[in-house]
Amino acid sequence: MASSLIFDLLSLNFIWLCQCAAWFCVLALIIQAYKLYLRRKELVAAFKDFPGPKTHWLYGNAHEFKADGKDLDLIYDYAGKYPYAFTLWLGSFFASLTVSHPDYAKQILSRTDPKDNFGYRFITPWIGKGLLVLSGPKWFQHRRLLTPGFHYDVLKPYVKLTSDCTKTMLAKWDRLLSDTNEVELFHHVSLMTLDTIMKCAFSYESNCQNDSENAYIKAVYEICYIVDFRFGCIPYQSDLIFHLSPHGFRFRRALKIAHRHTAKVIKERVESLKQDTELEKIKQKRHLDFLDILLCAKDENDQGLSDEDLQAEVDTFMFEGHDTTASGISWTLYCMAKYPEHQQKCREEIREVLGGRDTVEWDDLGKFPHLTMCIKESMRLYPPVPGVARELTTPITFCDGRTLQKGSHVLLSLYNINRCSSLWEEPEVFNPQRFSPENSSTRHSHAFLPFSAGARNCIGQNFAMNEMKAALALTLKRFELSPVPDKEPLKLPQLILRSLNGIHINLKKVEN
Ligand code: HEM
Repeated sequence: MASSLIFDLLSLNFIWLCQCAAWFCVLALIIQAYKLYLRRKELVAAFKDFPGPKTHWLYGNAHEFKADGKDLDLIYDYAGKYPYAFTLWLGSFFASLTVSHPDYAKQILSRTDPKDNFGYRFITPWIGKGLLVLSGPKWFQHRRLLTPGFHYDVLKPYVKLTSDCTKTMLAKWDRLLSDTNEVELFHHVSLMTLDTIMKCAFSYESNCQNDSENAYIKAVYEICYIVDFRFGCIPYQSDLIFHLSPHGFRFRRALKIAHRHTAKVIKERVESLKQDTELEKIKQKRHLDFLDILLCAKDENDQGLSDEDLQAEVDTFMFEGHDTTASGISWTLYCMAKYPEHQQKCREEIREVLGGRDTVEWDDLGKFPHLTMCIKESMRLYPPVPGVARELTTPITFCDGRTLQKGSHVLLSLYNINRCSSLWEEPEVFNPQRFSPENSSTRHSHAFLPFSAGARNCIGQNFAMNEMKAALALTLKRFELSPVPDKEPLKLPQLILRSLNGIHINLKKVEN
């Protein structure tokens, strides 16, 4: 009797507990829904001055971006319909202002707003809090520590190393020519620029160009693909859902590979630096590289970088230092194939400077004016970094009187800005003459932004321009390029500008 009474009481308590838990869940859901409603209301009010394309109630505009090679064309079309800037929604609770005009870009880039915490948060597990992602005083401290790594004394010996790496790639193409005239060059160029950054910045002989299945390059492709996929997949905006998803699993597996690669480079260098701790002694043995500067850097309190900061900077520079230039070189080669008259003009200029030499030297770099104009025009049409983002820390009133509140997210579409029709005549036409000295002096300061501008501009831009000039000069000297009909590349913005179907080019050896 007593035991059945206890049993009844326990069951009653259990039912009561279940009911309480159910009510608690309902209440939590109502509070969450109300918060989301307020968030949506706040966003609608914040972006009211900036109309944009129609939105779906659940996806916003996310479903319009299909990674099918047409996403940048869509963004460009919207720039035509909504001049200066327009609002895009990823789902119902995240909106950002897409900027397409140099006047707006100038205002944003002259402020000190940090990188936005929406998109850059997706790449932080990979490149950590390195220079690209950092903000505030810590960013300033790192930028000051790392700037000497791009002094021209440091960059000078890199030109020969770039030539060596390019020659390795071209020798591979020579061998391929016995079977076929056609190459998909993006992959080859990525291996070449990885080899270059490894040799220049990390004095590391990786022999990666002979490894077409290079694990690091594959991991970088996988990471960029998943990060891009995450932008468009609304549930993946939640870190928890992403972490538990198959994509989260693949992401972590690729991260492990990428981090293993950079950790190995650091470990070997730390070992070798145990013998030589002074920069002067290192300089006597080999060129001073970026990793030496990172390891020996001290701030005003004589503090070096922590292990975590060091790993983040090496991950940042390993990625930024090879994938961006791979994109720049590949798309310029595509433009050269498409516009043979410019290709020929570059080749004549290169022959005149190099004569019978097959190596580019530091003093040659300033002697390729037409090649330099072609590189710039290619980067205008195909910017290796198609967009950058900021989160406003204070409200902004733009030049036309429209305002945006503190906390708003802004995406500067470098792709649209570089093609802004109110500043560039026939913006879609390939015309390197736009970058002649006469035409450059009168241009809007923010009409051409491949390397962004302001305090957060690209720290590696001189490195990048030198590498692109040297690699392109040697390639054009050795090969004539022509397009492959029916294999037009499809622009794919995945952190950097890639091509969905690769970049296919026909090669023919040039008789020198
Ligand atoms: C064609 C090649 C390149 C292009 C088009 C390019 C473009 C850019 C752009 C647009 C930014 C601004 C990013 C943002 O605001 O989020 C940037 C930043 C950066 N780039 Fe480059 N980049 C190139 C090559 C390089 C190279 C070769 C390196 C290193 C060796 C490098 C290292 C960096 C770093 C560390 C930052 C962050 C700088 C900071 O915030 O202080 N980049 N780059």
